[in-house]
Amino acid sequence: MEPKFLIISSLFLSTLVFSSSTFSQQNTTYSTFIKTSCNATTYPSVCRKTLLPYAAAVKTSPLRLVNVALSTTLTSANATLSTVSQFAKTKRITKWESAVLKDCIENLKDSMAEIKSSLKAIAGLSTSTDKSFLISNAQTWTSAAITDENTCLDGFSDRKVSPAIKKKLRNSIVSLARVSSNTLYLINHLTV
Ligand SMILES: *[C@@H]1O[C@H](CO)[C@@H](O)[C@H](O)[C@H]1NC(C)=O
Ligand SMILES: *[C@@H]1O[C@H](CO)[C@@H](O)[C@H](O)[C@H]1NC(C)=O
Ligand SMILES: *[C@@H]1O[C@H](CO)[C@@H](O)[C@H](O)[C@H]1NC(C)=O
Repeated sequence: MEPKFLIISSLFLSTLVFSSSTFSQQNTTYSTFIKTSCNATTYPSVCRKTLLPYAAAVKTSPLRLVNVALSTTLTSANATLSTVSQFAKTKRITKWESAVLKDCIENLKDSMAEIKSSLKAIAGLSTSTDKSFLISNAQTWTSAAITDENTCLDGFSDRKVSPAIKKKLRNSIVSLARVSSNTLYLINHLTV
């Protein structure tokens, strides 16, 4: 092989190695940011599981992290709502259970509206001069969403609700409440 070609190709190769190691370093930086942010939340493993897939989009921005956390909370609430709604349509439930599910559906709808309001408050942050007011609003809305989720959960602890329903629906609502609680933690610790 000609020496000139050798130099060029080794230069090319080292560039390739360098850029791919920069990429993976960046990846590590971004996922470490999420892991560190999740570390002090109430449910760190839930936090990592829900937010790590968004590491590349969040990069190291606390504001983007809160945005993603709220969006995933909304998606989770919607999925829970759909699960409960489908169950409420089945014929094998008692009148009492039907009433509990109906209340829960209302709670979940309220919770989703509150998470949307929280998202709106956070979206206003970049242009607002009163950032602490907006963060405080986002905290209030997210707390309200958690209260509604817990109200739904309380309904399921009723003795008249069958173990089958409890088993099927409780987990879904508990995990939504955990995701929401982590999101509130991230909002509480957001500094912009
Ligand atoms: C970086 O992360 C993305 C997903 O976020 C992944 O597809 C890619 O393989 C990762 N690259 C490296 C070098 O780790
Ligand atoms: C998470 O917190 C523990 C202590 O609770 C600490 O030892 C660990 O280094 C932290 N990890 C990250 C990624 O911040
Ligand atoms: C909730 O899910 C339904 C489908 O099940 C979808 O049509 C709707 O857009 C979703 N809403 C939100 C806010 O994610």
